[in-house]
Amino acid sequence: MKIAITGAAGFIGQKLIKHFLDNPVIATPTGAQAITELRLFDVIAPPVPAPGNAAIAIDTRVGDITDLDALGQLIDGGVDAIIHLAAVVSSAAEADLDLGLRVNLEGTRAVLEACRTLPSPPLLLFASSVAVYGGDLPAVVRDDTALTPQSSYGAQKVMGEQLINDFSRRGIIDGRVLRLPTIAVRPGKPNAAASSFASSIIREPLQGDTAILPVPEDLSVYLLSPRGVVRNLVHALGISAEHFGGSRSLMLPGVTVTMAQMLAALERAGGPESRARVKTEPDPRIEAIVGSWPAVFETTKADSLGFTADRDMDAIVAAFVEDDRLINE
Ligand SMILES: NC(=O)c1ccc[n+]([C@@H]2O[C@H](COP(=O)([O-])OP(=O)(O)OC[C@H]3O[C@@H](n4cnc5c(N)ncnc54)[C@H](O)[C@@H]3O)[C@@H](O)[C@H]2O)c1
Repeated sequence: MKIAITGAAGFIGQKLIKHFLDNPVIATPTGAQAITELRLFDVIAPPVPAPGNAAIAIDTRVGDITDLDALGQLIDGGVDAIIHLAAVVSSAAEADLDLGLRVNLEGTRAVLEACRTLPSPPLLLFASSVAVYGGDLPAVVRDDTALTPQSSYGAQKVMGEQLINDFSRRGIIDGRVLRLPTIAVRPGKPNAAASSFASSIIREPLQGDTAILPVPEDLSVYLLSPRGVVRNLVHALGISAEHFGGSRSLMLPGVTVTMAQMLAALERAGGPESRARVKTEPDPRIEAIVGSWPAVFETTKADSLGFTADRDMDAIVAAFVEDDRLINE
C-alpha cells in the first residue's frame, strides 16, 4: 500500500509516520494491507522518525501545497491513500487572510485537482476541525448541526470539506473528513494555534517551566490526545465509503473539560508545584476564537463507526508523560 502524507513535517504528521513505521500493516476495506511506501510532502523537509522500517520505502519531498506540478509528482504512478494534513493553523489563518486562503483552501483544491489525473480514485483523508462550528449553537452539537464558523480557519475547513464531499460524489476520490477536537497534549513548543495554551498549561509545568492560561477557568474545550488522533486517522482508512452515508464528514469523539478540570488533572499528575507554574493572563483575542468553538458533542456517527475518545483528562495527561514529556535537567 502506498500512502502520501501532506504536512508530513508537522505535529500530527510526525506522530502518524512514527505509528506507520512501527505498525506497518493496516486494516483497509479490502482486508489487511502492508504499507510498502510512504511519500512525505511538506514545505519544510519532513524528518523521518528513527529507527525507520526497512520494509517501507520512504520518499520525502519539499514543496508548496498549491504547486500542482509538485503534487502531480508526489502521486505519480498512483497512491492508494493521501492523508492531507498540510495547513496553517487557526491563529495564523486569522492573522493573515491571504495565507489562510492560499494554504487551507487553494492547497486543498490543488490536492483534489492532482487526484483528477489518477487512473483510480485514491482514498483521501482530510483533517478538518472543531472550528467548523461556531456562533449561535445548540447546547449539544451534532454532525448535522449547521456549520457557521466564526474564524477564517474554520471557514476554510468548511470549504475544504464541501469540495471533498463533491469530489467523492463525482468518484474522483474516496474522501473521509475527520473533524478533529483540539489535540492535546502536544509536545514541543507553543504554536500559532489559538488553542496552543491547552497543551502549554499541562506540558510546560510538567517539564518544570511556567505557562500562561489566557482564558477563564470555566471555559470548556473538547480534547483528543495525540495517541487518539493517530488511532482514529488509522481507523478511518479501514472503513468502507458506504458507511459514511450522504456526507463524508464526521466529528471525532473527545473529552469535554473545563480549564479548572485540566488544572486539577495537572495537579494530580505533577503535584501543587506544577499547578503553581500556571499563571492567568486573560487574552481576549484567544478567548474570542477558542470560546467560539463548542465543547459538548453528540458523536453518534463516529461512535457507530468505531472511532473512540480518550478515557478522561487524567488519561490524556498520562499519555503525554509516557510518550512526550522531556525532563529538563
Ligand atoms: N493539532 C490540532 O489541535 C488540530 C485540531 C484540528 C485540526 N487540525 C488539523 O490537522 C492538520 C495537522 O495539524 P498539525 O497540528 O500537525 O499542524 P502543524 O502546523 O504541526 O502541521 C502542518 C504542516 O503543514 C505544513 N505546511 C504549511 N503550509 C504549507 C504549504 N504551503 N505547503 C506545504 N506544507 C505546508 C507545515 O510546514 C506543517 O509541517 C491540519 O490540517 C490542522 O488544521 C489540527
